[in-house]
Amino acid sequence: MNKFSEFKHAAVVGAGAMGRGIAQMMLEAGSKVTLYDTQTAQLEAAKAGIAAGLAKRVEKGVFDAPTVLALLAQLSTCSDVAQLAGCDLVVEAIVERLDVKQTVLTAVQNVVGESCVVASNTSSLSVTAIAAGLPFPTQVLGWHFFNPVALMKVVEVVGAARTAEGLVEKLAAYTRRFGHTPVICQDTPGFIVNHAGRAYGTEALAMVREGVADFATIDAILRDAAGFRMGPFELMDLTALDVSHPVMESVYTQYYQDPRYRPSNLAAQRLAAGLLGRKTNAGFYQYVEGKAQNATPAAPVLGELPNRVWFAPMEASTRDWLMRCALSAGVVVEHSGSAPSDEALVICSPLGQDVTSQVLLHQLPAARTVGVDGFLPLDGVKRLTLMSNPATQPAALASACAWLATSGKAVSCVRDSAGFVTQRVLAMVVAIACEIAQQGIASPPDIDNGVRLGLGYPQGPLAWGDALGAVRCAQTLAALQHSTGDARYRPAAWMHRRAVLGLSLLDAGH
Ligand code: NAI
Repeated sequence: MNKFSEFKHAAVVGAGAMGRGIAQMMLEAGSKVTLYDTQTAQLEAAKAGIAAGLAKRVEKGVFDAPTVLALLAQLSTCSDVAQLAGCDLVVEAIVERLDVKQTVLTAVQNVVGESCVVASNTSSLSVTAIAAGLPFPTQVLGWHFFNPVALMKVVEVVGAARTAEGLVEKLAAYTRRFGHTPVICQDTPGFIVNHAGRAYGTEALAMVREGVADFATIDAILRDAAGFRMGPFELMDLTALDVSHPVMESVYTQYYQDPRYRPSNLAAQRLAAGLLGRKTNAGFYQYVEGKAQNATPAAPVLGELPNRVWFAPMEASTRDWLMRCALSAGVVVEHSGSAPSDEALVICSPLGQDVTSQVLLHQLPAARTVGVDGFLPLDGVKRLTLMSNPATQPAALASACAWLATSGKAVSCVRDSAGFVTQRVLAMVVAIACEIAQQGIASPPDIDNGVRLGLGYPQGPLAWGDALGAVRCAQTLAALQHSTGDARYRPAAWMHRRAVLGLSLLDAGH
């Protein structure tokens, strides 16, 4: 046994998908492990699953075969809770029901006594509520793994309202023993990861409901411009709407209808219709033999190249890129000191506003005005987003598409929307991370690690906010709130202060 192991004899209650993964991790940390389940068939399957999981470690060169045999010798199973006597750590991974968890953990604590640490792998219940019904509530905390346990390298360690001092740090140190990254958080709805993850799907659904763009276009923009591995609709199809919609509703309800987390009636309706996603071969996309059928975004209509373009006031970096694109396509850029000529295509690049607002603000000819999203550095994006206003003539939009397509980047068109697509989604991702920081749920580095490792975002949300510019993100949110009248977009005071003081969101401390 590893002499450095924090816990010498650990137990897992519930030998399902999560329990067997956690048991493997505990073995790897050097603990003796007892797996408890009422179903003996589950115990047998779990033993085989753990052996297979450790065999993969041999293939990857992490352990040699004799080490794996020694680890497996430390594993035992039982269907009698009395056999957990002497354990110093017990984690439960049974059905997600408060009453069942409390009944089982009461029986466990009556056997293991007050000195044993008891953890719950719950993803949606309050750890404080679980602990409140138990004989020794101060010994209880949350230990939230992600599926599949061995591959998802982050674990939330959740301190409940009465958790004894030092327990969270002790379990976090133990988590590091098997190579996972612990992120410490307070017992709040969704902890870090399921809380921070609320922006992506809900904002995408809101855009579809507003008629901004279809599923495939939104997915493509967020993949190709923002760098997400999967678009929000692909992701919801993968996790399945019967899993993701209840999580959206649960976080919203637990935060007493805070509009930041507002779910969508579109998702509720699709769930009722059984359009769950990949597992039913029909979700936001149709699936044939596992392949999405209608996931290609609409190709833009390409018109005649414009002779002349005129740029409304915009950020210098966006303007410079557009200028270079015009020069290399042989399009004349009109001097923006004077009004656009009658012939010019007019380009604006608003932050947090729609094109209509730009038309009014700068007195632009609406029929010839098109927006280009410059939120992300245009050099780096693989897809450009163009936005029309309700009066834009199709020929003007087609002409803008033809010109911007000469850059070699993909082009997508969306309808007028304050904040295009990337601004709405990214500013909301940053806003919710700042809200988590403001509430003191977790430290900024733990928020970023949790989201990067738990959700696979290309960057942690606070580092992303710093890269985009905290001021730009806060301004975008304020403009979104102003445009829509929706408190969903309000920037947290925590974010606003750091933005105006020029501080980093990730490193600014308290
Ligand atoms: P599962 O259904 O695969 O396994 C549950 C196991 O618990 C079964 O083997 C069952 O026989 C056993 N069990 C049920 N009631 C029991 C009782 N009263 N006494 C002893 N054993 C009992 O479930 P899964 O997916 O492993 O999830 C377990 C827990 O982990 C749930 O609370 C869930 O919310 C949480 N979780 C699940 C994740 C997932 O992606 N599946 C991710 C993170 C947390």
